[in-house]
Amino acid sequence: MSNPFIFGKPVKGGDFANRRKEINKLITNAENNISTMLISPRRWGKSSLVRQASVELSSKKGFAVANMDMFQTRSENEFYSVFAKEIVQATGNKIEEWSKTVSDFLSMFRPKISFQGGPVPEWSLSFDVEDTRNFGQDILNLPQVLAEKKKLNLTICIDEFQNLSHFPEQLAFQKRCRSFWQNQKNVSYVLYGSKRHMLRDLFTKRSMPFYKFGDIIFLEKINLTELEEFVQMKFETTGKSISRELANKIVSVMECNPYYVQQFAYYVWQNTAKKANNESFDKSIEDMMNSNHYLFVKDFESLSENQIGFMRVLCDGVEKGFTRGEVIQKYNLGSSANVIKIIESLQGKEVFEKLGSKIEFIDPVFKIWLKRLFRVQVRK
Ligand SMILES: Nc1ncnc2c1ncn2[C@@H]1O[C@H](COP(=O)(O)OP(=O)(O)O)[C@@H](O)[C@H]1O
Ligand SMILES: [Mg+2]
Repeated sequence: MSNPFIFGKPVKGGDFANRRKEINKLITNAENNISTMLISPRRWGKSSLVRQASVELSSKKGFAVANMDMFQTRSENEFYSVFAKEIVQATGNKIEEWSKTVSDFLSMFRPKISFQGGPVPEWSLSFDVEDTRNFGQDILNLPQVLAEKKKLNLTICIDEFQNLSHFPEQLAFQKRCRSFWQNQKNVSYVLYGSKRHMLRDLFTKRSMPFYKFGDIIFLEKINLTELEEFVQMKFETTGKSISRELANKIVSVMECNPYYVQQFAYYVWQNTAKKANNESFDKSIEDMMNSNHYLFVKDFESLSENQIGFMRVLCDGVEKGFTRGEVIQKYNLGSSANVIKIIESLQGKEVFEKLGSKIEFIDPVFKIWLKRLFRVQVRK
């Protein structure tokens, strides 16, 4: 029986739970040529969602979707070759068509194409041009040119979009993108990534070029009931079973975090012969701790004494009033100004997020791990 739970890479099809509302929203926006900016903490399922929506959207007649990831992109020039390649590919069906599009529309940049054979043909595109001054606008306009020529509605999804803020002269580049993209009638964009703070700055600061570029979605976690059903259904596809109650326990302890629900469910599934029980649940908690231990030690070691002190506050269940004198004294936090600084720095590190006056850990497993650590330290 093979493992039905997947984590660590984007999921789709039967491995993808629900998110009907968000998929429909992305598709409706694309159909109406509205761009979307998608923000959430890492591992909440942005890449999976966009890919799933892309599959559904591109199966509609007259719609094409280009997906690209800027994870490895370090400069404007690199961006142009990735961008051009994915757009050429998304608007054509086969290698011959791609080559023709490249020679019809991009020959002035002295393109170099290389093909790698294999069951799924791979190819790459680069340009032999040093000066990018007049280069950008033709590439940035290519989507509209091709969409019109091929009578398509084109959606371009760019993952890890915040990486463009590492480009030299990034602001000028953003301005260039915005000025061309906002006038494209048959093209819309889905811009998203994992560095929430950077993306929020890119999209919500008035002074930034992408301010009000489109519809901003703050992705939520997946609904508890949907995840319970997902876990139960996955157990059943392999001939094992789990009660609704225990499935609920998995999802609740992992606080509906999609990645961790899949990882935890995987351990419970592995520790179950036929029907999951409390024993397999308890053993799986240990497996979770073990598998994450070294990563957490590393994260923990990067924290200052003050930051650790503040983690203790949260682990003791204090939810607000962090700048009160008794809290500052008990946890040795210095001053209220210092507490505010600590909170900001930990938010910057994406350790937790602030929801109104309440503070929540982003990583539910790190929280469990920390609580255990502090308990052990108290006992010593
Ligand atoms: N809709 C979903 N249904 C089930 N599991 C999901 C879903 N979305 C995400 N996951 C789980 O979360 C993990 C991280 O998802 P991913 O899409 O890579 O997140 P992000 O791009 O936000 O970092 C996936 O490997 C998978 O285990
Ligand atoms: Mg992702």
